[in-house]
This record gives sequence, structure tokens and C-alpha cells, in this order.
Amino acid sequence: MAQDPIGLIGLGAYLPERVMTNADWAQRLDTSDEWITRRTGIKERRLARDDQTTLDLAAAAAESAIADAGLTAQDLDEIIVASDTPETYSPDTAAFLQHRLGAREITSYDLGGSGCAGFVLGLDIARARVRDRRRTILVVGVELLSRLMDWTDRHACILFGDGAGAAVVGASPRAARILAATAGTDGSQTDILGCPVGGTRYPFTLERAEKREHQKLVMKGSKVFKEAVTRMSAASRQVLAEAGLTLDDVDLVVPHQANQRIIQAVGQVLELPEEKVFVNVDRLGNTGSASIPLALWQAREAGRIKPGDLVLLTSFGAGFHWAALLLRF
Ligand code: COA
Repeated sequence: MAQDPIGLIGLGAYLPERVMTNADWAQRLDTSDEWITRRTGIKERRLARDDQTTLDLAAAAAESAIADAGLTAQDLDEIIVASDTPETYSPDTAAFLQHRLGAREITSYDLGGSGCAGFVLGLDIARARVRDRRRTILVVGVELLSRLMDWTDRHACILFGDGAGAAVVGASPRAARILAATAGTDGSQTDILGCPVGGTRYPFTLERAEKREHQKLVMKGSKVFKEAVTRMSAASRQVLAEAGLTLDDVDLVVPHQANQRIIQAVGQVLELPEEKVFVNVDRLGNTGSASIPLALWQAREAGRIKPGDLVLLTSFGAGFHWAALLLRF
């Protein structure tokens, strides 16, 4: 008997209501709408309320994905949370989320520190776990970057926003099938992007806290830019080759939304027409692990994805990690 396809059976999202525009940043920092727009394409981003935590964002996105799948939290068999801004470092956000959702005592864990590639990696892991055990797995990408970043560092803080997206992965005749996935890591590049203070290598001390080093994002901007373009393009080609498909077969590319220039450069390398590439970085900024599920959700809500469409997700993040995945809706 043919098995039901494994893929996405529900999608959800949560965006905080508060909008921070480039003009708002220009009132606090030596920057301008013109500089931010020209270098990044970002016009505004969402910021969580002071009384919200990562868990609040994650739970809202998760609930909408579970409802979209026509399920309840009791139907879940596993929870994976991709985040670099966890509720607490220990225990992980997934433990809090399992309890908040009212799920059973199911396996729940975080993919932390994989930067913005975490959600796509989570989908790939979920696919394997569903195939192995016929499970229903919630995958969440959530980031509350505004809480951790240094609001005086104009190089970094203007890039980011808060938000959460989620998907339920399962086996169902109506699933958006995961056709293929690929992921990789170049651990020689751990120094180009990340938040190093707080672990065992650079422990959290009063001296470091006074210099706000715990909020410092280390980012070699142009190096990250080049790696991002190279890795996202290569991962896209690789995942298509694994599925025996070509770029001509793709209806929509949903790339990690870090910077409009990075997205355009990937489009150029892959020779994609602009209308085949989904962009929301102008409105949301870089939402880290939440960026891909938020963009996928918005693309679907905007009617950019039709039944039968082939959708390519491609992402990169601190590590240096990358991951790409193909979906047949
Ligand atoms: N407003 C105004 N000026 C700024 C600024 C800001 N917010 N941030 C930096 N500058 C200044 C710099 O100080 C520099 O001035 P100088 O020439 O006098 O030293 C100048 O603008 C150019 O800075 P540079 O860093 O060379 O700009 P860039 O064209 O490389 O763009 C990034 C910077 C960060 C936008 C770009 O490198 C990038 O997007 N990299 C990828 C980052 C990324 O995606 N990170 C997240 C990954 S998940």
C-alpha cells in the first residue's frame, strides 16, 4: 500500500504588532533610512512588547500552525524549536513550549545556535523522524533578537526583527511533500558571525557585562554576505539535483531574509526571474530562525503558492551553517 506523503500539514506565524521603522532607528542612532534601505532593503521590522518572551512568540505561531493542520496540541508526538534567542539557556524553549501548549509528555528539544538555518534543518530532521516512526512533529522557528542585541551598535541592530513561524510535519495525503533536503556546515567560519559571550569559551563576567559584550553580535559583514550568496546558491542546486529537478521546475524560491542585496545576488547566481523569489525583508528585517517559516506563511497567505507548485527553501546562518529543502504543494 502506498504511504502518504511526508511534508507540511500546517503552517502558522506570529508577528508582534509594534513596528520599528528606519526613521525610528535614525532618532536613536547615527544612521538614516537612506543608508539602511540602500545597503539592506529593510524599511521596517517588528519588535516584541517588553512583557513578551520567546515562549509567547513561539506559542502563538505554534497554535496557529496546529489549528491550520486541523489538529490539537494533544495530537503532537514531538516538538523541535529552532532559536538562537531561547527562553532560557537551560532548560530549552521546547520544554516550556510543550507545557504551554498542553501537549503530552512528548520528546521536545531545541536546535540552538544554528543561526538562521535552524528551521530548515528542523524540517529535515522532522521528515526523517516522521518516516521512521509515523509521527506528527511541530517545528518552530522563533527569535526575539531585539531583546539580546546592543541597541547602540548601528552595524547590527538595524538588521534584525522579532517574530515566530511554525510548521506541523506529518504524513498525510494533503501534505506539502518534502521532496529533498540538504544541509551543511563549515566550522572553520565560526568567527564571522555569532554571539560568543556567555558560553564556556568567553564566560559571562561583570567586566564583559559592563562593556555590553554579552549583547555583542560579532559580524564580518562582507564575509558573511559572500558566504551567504555562495552557500545558499550551492545548496539550492544540490537539493534540486538530489530530487532530479532543475531551477526551471521551481515556482517560488523562499530564501532566508537577511538582506535584499543577498537575496538579489542569489537570484542572479541562479539566474532566477525576480517574480520567482519571495521577499519580505523590507517589512520584517532579519528574523533569524523565524525568517523562512514567516516568509513561507506570508507567501501562501498572499496567494503566491498554488497546489502543485514546487517551492525551494534556502537558508544560511552562524556556524557557518546552510540548509535547503524542496516542497511540492
Ligand atoms: N548607518 C549608517 N552607516 C553605517 C551603518 C548604519 N546603520 N552601519 C555601518 N555604517 C557605516 C560603516 O561604519 C562604514 O563607514 P566607514 O566606511 O566610514 O567605515 C560604512 O557604513 C560601510 O560599512 P560596511 O560595513 O562596509 O557596509 P556594507 O556595504 O558591507 O553593508 C551590511 C553592511 C551589514 C549591511 C552588509 O555587509 C551585510 O548585509 N552583510 C551580511 C550581514 C548579515 O546578513 N548578517 C546576518 C546573517 S543571518
